[in-house]
Amino acid sequence: MYLTKEQEKMLEGEYGEVVSKMMRLLVRLGEVYNAEKMIPVTSVQVAGVSYKSIGDAGLEFLQDIAKEAKVKVLTFLNPAGMDLENWKEMGISEEFAKKQLAIIEAFKKMGIVISATCTPYLAGNLPRYKQHIAWSESSAVSFANSVVGARTNREGGPSALAAAITGYTPYYGLHLDEKRQPNYIINVNVDLKSSTDFAAMGYYIGKEIKNKIPYFVGIKDADVDDLKALGAAMAASGAVALYHIENITPEANEVSIDGLEKIEFGKEELKETYEKLNSGEEEDIIIFGCPHASLNEIIKIARLVEGKKARKPFWICTSRAVKEIAERMGLDEIIRKAGGKIIADTCMVVSPIENLFSTTAVNSAKAAHYLPGFCKQKVIFKRMEDLLR
Ligand code: F3S
Repeated sequence: MYLTKEQEKMLEGEYGEVVSKMMRLLVRLGEVYNAEKMIPVTSVQVAGVSYKSIGDAGLEFLQDIAKEAKVKVLTFLNPAGMDLENWKEMGISEEFAKKQLAIIEAFKKMGIVISATCTPYLAGNLPRYKQHIAWSESSAVSFANSVVGARTNREGGPSALAAAITGYTPYYGLHLDEKRQPNYIINVNVDLKSSTDFAAMGYYIGKEIKNKIPYFVGIKDADVDDLKALGAAMAASGAVALYHIENITPEANEVSIDGLEKIEFGKEELKETYEKLNSGEEEDIIIFGCPHASLNEIIKIARLVEGKKARKPFWICTSRAVKEIAERMGLDEIIRKAGGKIIADTCMVVSPIENLFSTTAVNSAKAAHYLPGFCKQKVIFKRMEDLLR
């Protein structure tokens, strides 16, 4: 792979051992994928933040890096294993909290923004069309590639961190125009009525096409919440990192769909997916916000619960940035009075909810996919309005 003088200096250790190690990792990755060169990135999102996922080994690795290195570009963090301020309220143990806060401290030392969200595009890190970035959380990757039209591969935690510290990523995969062409046409012949319907469709399609690129036709309209739900689900049941929707996503007019195989998605497939994702009978808790809730979703929930009292506890997971605006608007208070909580910095999958509940209800197909394995939960999967009703 061609390296500039600057990149060679990094590799040879002129900027210290950590930078050299990070560059080595990127060069190896580039070689595996036959990248011809490195390209600069201007935005990074690092996953592997929860103590539940990375454990003591991850904590030590990050502490070592933090002794020496700082990030070079705007770098945001994925959700942590708990609300970083109100973790006691969540029922998190002192021991878990201590380790989680040490992880956060290491990231802070590196100069990373402690955003703790999988929706960085809603909380202050919004790339532009065709900007090269290195993001790692799969739903954020899908949103950035598909809805914004930025360019990122689905980075692992270490390769995203290496991009943040060096400012470069190998030039391969979804950074290249020719790798962004669709492989299948998805013919949607059912009216999708909520973000949860989009999530269910994403779950079905991800399973069908694995890591390929779909091109949807027949979707009349979709808002940002629908698109984030769709992308998150396809990235969970498959490994879809980019999708196009006719007349909706920005690159849909730039790609060719001639001769592609068609997959039909209709009423039957939608019904079948809802059935498949339900494994529980009665929920202990309802948790919204996978991916992290937008302000609009919190407004919708607050309107639905205002003046009412929930029979079951419910949480809404979001970023700290969105939570603060919700508090300022009085939405937090409405939700609390109804028996709910807005939880920041974490989510139902990366926090240790298995110690607290055994059946969780969600409106996210991604959460429904991961909760049984990661959190030993039985799952109820329904539309937001139905869960609240
Ligand atoms: Fe985000 Fe957690 Fe879902 S990281 S996409 S809310 S599993």
